[in-house]
Amino acid sequence: MANAQVIQTTELTRRFGDLTAVDKISFSVEQGEVFGLLGPNGAGKTTLVRLLNGVLPATSGSARVLNYDPDHQGDDLRKHTGVLTESTSLYEQLTARANLQFFGTLYGLSGAELDRRTDEALKLFGLTERADNKAGEFSKGMKQRLALARTLVHQPDLLFFDEPTAALDPEATHQVTELIARLSRESGRTIFLCTHNLDEAQRLCNRVAVINKGCLLAIGAPAQLARDLFQGFWVDIELQAAPPGDLAANLGKLTGVEKVTLDNLKLAVQIHSEEMIPAVVTKLVELTAQIVRVNPRVYSLEDIYFEIQKGGRS
Ligand SMILES: Nc1ncnc2c1ncn2[C@@H]1O[C@H](COP(=O)(O)OP(=O)(O)O)[C@@H](O)[C@H]1O
Ligand SMILES: [Mg+2]
Repeated sequence: MANAQVIQTTELTRRFGDLTAVDKISFSVEQGEVFGLLGPNGAGKTTLVRLLNGVLPATSGSARVLNYDPDHQGDDLRKHTGVLTESTSLYEQLTARANLQFFGTLYGLSGAELDRRTDEALKLFGLTERADNKAGEFSKGMKQRLALARTLVHQPDLLFFDEPTAALDPEATHQVTELIARLSRESGRTIFLCTHNLDEAQRLCNRVAVINKGCLLAIGAPAQLARDLFQGFWVDIELQAAPPGDLAANLGKLTGVEKVTLDNLKLAVQIHSEEMIPAVVTKLVELTAQIVRVNPRVYSLEDIYFEIQKGGRS
């Protein structure tokens, strides 16, 4: 099943009256990916998750999820998906264990199998010690861990986490992010993560899609998006003293160097690839430049995201 497509949509669209919440979105997600869906509030993330789980019918277009048609085979599909929605909807009066058992029962588990899976989920999310405390007594972070554990009791192949850290403090956010990373590493499950937390997406996702107003603006691995958006590979070089006047022009003649700008003691060099860096440094030494620092420019997902939202790509 390597690289099997777990999600595939074709011009998937959902309208609410005059509003198009999801607008002709076509994309796919492969098995084992942690796929990030990024976009501001109201972009259509939750609507897309609901469409992909067959909770909401599409207005037009189509989707295949785990080889099911969500619109017509939603019940079968949802046996194999785990969904963490924006509201955790736990039973506050029930213990952590009872919460998990209740949901396990809904998925047809019982007896020793139910106990085993419940124990596993509690352990995975560090809740074993608090298993017999009521969920209502938990901190927000623990509730979120319990909600995550709940999505796993029936061992789904595909997990949807809709803004899993939105209401958490930095410490709980860090914990939940680490747990999701571990879950992905250890179980190899496909994870579809909706978030507007770009650090979280940078930490977790191998590919991201950026949406706004229901439209897909860009999709790909962050490094690839950065290459497409910012064109080429840039190195920032800091000099100790003013270089010879013809330095930039001479460096520009080196094969593989595409652009050179010099601003006071700061040199910015655009090259074909990272492998060119030693040649650039050697050339600069030859040209008697005194180098203090060489920094390959790295774009964060935040740089990429804002460039895309700004309309850098359509
Ligand atoms: N059931 C609904 N009825 C009417 N409008 C809705 C409904 N659900 C979502 N919307 C609208 O669709 C748009 C996308 O919402 P949503 O998918 O929740 O965005 P996100 O999860 O990215 O914040 C918003 O403008 C929202 O108000
Ligand atoms: Mg949402």
